[in-house]
Amino acid sequence: MGKREQWGSRAGFILAAIGSAVGLGNIWRFPYVAYANGGGAFLIPYFFALLTAGIPILILEFGIGHKFKGSAPLSFRRILKNSEWLGWWQVLISFVIMTYYVAIIAWSASYTWFALGLKWGEDTESFLFSEYLNISEGVWHTGGIQWHIFFVLLVVWAVIFFILYRGVKAGIERISKFLMPLLLIIMIIFTIRGVTLPGATEGLNVLLTPDFSKIFDGDTWIAAYGQIFFSLSIAFAIMITYSSYLPEKAEINNSAFITGLSNSGFEFLAALGVFGVLGFMATSSGVPVQDVAKAGVGLAFVVFPQIINQLPAMNELMGVLFFGALVIAGLTSAISILEVVVAAVMDKFSLSRKQAVVASTAVTFLLSLFYVTGGGLYYLDIVDHFINSFGIALAGLVEVILLGWFFKVSTIREHNNPLSDFAIGSWWDIMIRFVTPIVLGVMMVLNFKTEFTELYGGYTLNSLIVFGWGVAIAAIVLGVMMKLIPGYKREEF
Ligand code: PHE
Ligand code: NA
Repeated sequence: MGKREQWGSRAGFILAAIGSAVGLGNIWRFPYVAYANGGGAFLIPYFFALLTAGIPILILEFGIGHKFKGSAPLSFRRILKNSEWLGWWQVLISFVIMTYYVAIIAWSASYTWFALGLKWGEDTESFLFSEYLNISEGVWHTGGIQWHIFFVLLVVWAVIFFILYRGVKAGIERISKFLMPLLLIIMIIFTIRGVTLPGATEGLNVLLTPDFSKIFDGDTWIAAYGQIFFSLSIAFAIMITYSSYLPEKAEINNSAFITGLSNSGFEFLAALGVFGVLGFMATSSGVPVQDVAKAGVGLAFVVFPQIINQLPAMNELMGVLFFGALVIAGLTSAISILEVVVAAVMDKFSLSRKQAVVASTAVTFLLSLFYVTGGGLYYLDIVDHFINSFGIALAGLVEVILLGWFFKVSTIREHNNPLSDFAIGSWWDIMIRFVTPIVLGVMMVLNFKTEFTELYGGYTLNSLIVFGWGVAIAAIVLGVMMKLIPGYKREEF
């Protein structure tokens, strides 16, 4: 039996964990979520969620990975034999996310190239939808593969494949040590430029002016918890997998704090930069900031190119910095997502890393082709919405309930404390057993309620059933089925 791979250094592990956490969520999700939920006042529920759920669950997952030394399904199996399926469910959620995450990286890579020479032209909206994505008439028309995106996607896949093939230390750790400092530098330059643009204060005021009335709105708290789960990559099996490669002597608690706080740092940096840039746009075009601030795809690929066109100087540079940051942030996250799948099948079927990487890449690659068709944006939108609402948060809820109530969760704390720079007290058990399950439980009830009262995004019920509910439910069903397949021959020795 081969020995489990290991990180080469503590810094390597932490940078890889931060690399996973810092992703598209920091750059295009956080700024908008913060603004839409009370601006400056959002920080109160945000930090509450970070301290009651985010960091406690990071500590939990780091501890589990280190103590049980397995991919998520194997670790859960070692904790409670019947909970292996939860690990597979989380692995499948990661797998689904991976199929579309790579498409967004490919778009970002294309746009980094388009930034040189501002190739997107004046009408950035029609450029994105009609020319670049070549969007089909509707969900039921794939419109065929868009080859100009396909080729970029192929390059993205080649990079990810190569890194995972090289393994934990020579692949993931090395690339994280190089890319994360680079990303920080890019973000700092971008943000400095953003906040010094004429009109930037206009945008910063909109972002930071606290609207305290939102604090008493339940939706704000849900948004804060949702952001923390997505942003920290918790309940995705990722942090369990990464910490399963820690050496025997490893620090846990402080590493969790460092990872959580660094991720927030990247979010604040991005928010300042993005809103500075939006303020410039609003002032120079006379439109209120509220009207240019949009979420997701529209912000990154329509509004930003438009603003970059209008910058007084260094337009191309700002474009390359922004889209380059998306590519780097996306790549390091994507690597972690696929590693979850790789580790899980390696453990279960006693495969070598190379076999597991080839198999996992091949399957995920094929499915990712859906998102480079003319219908890709629709599938992405629906799948992303459902997997966020009924994947991550629900899997997180099941995780804290299973570990908090069917397992003596304090054993993880007692495992971590002697290894760590500082000990955590029994407040942590309370967070895992009571606070987090209650908040996530309420969040789930409200999510279901919204989902049943309105059709998401104006799609038809049929398309939501197939691409939304279908995918979310398939992840659970397949998770349970994976548990039934025999495996772990290597572990029985
Ligand atoms: N945490 C990442 C972000 O903030 C998102 C992510 C999702 C990463 C799934 C890995 C897996 O964008
Ligand atoms: Na993040």
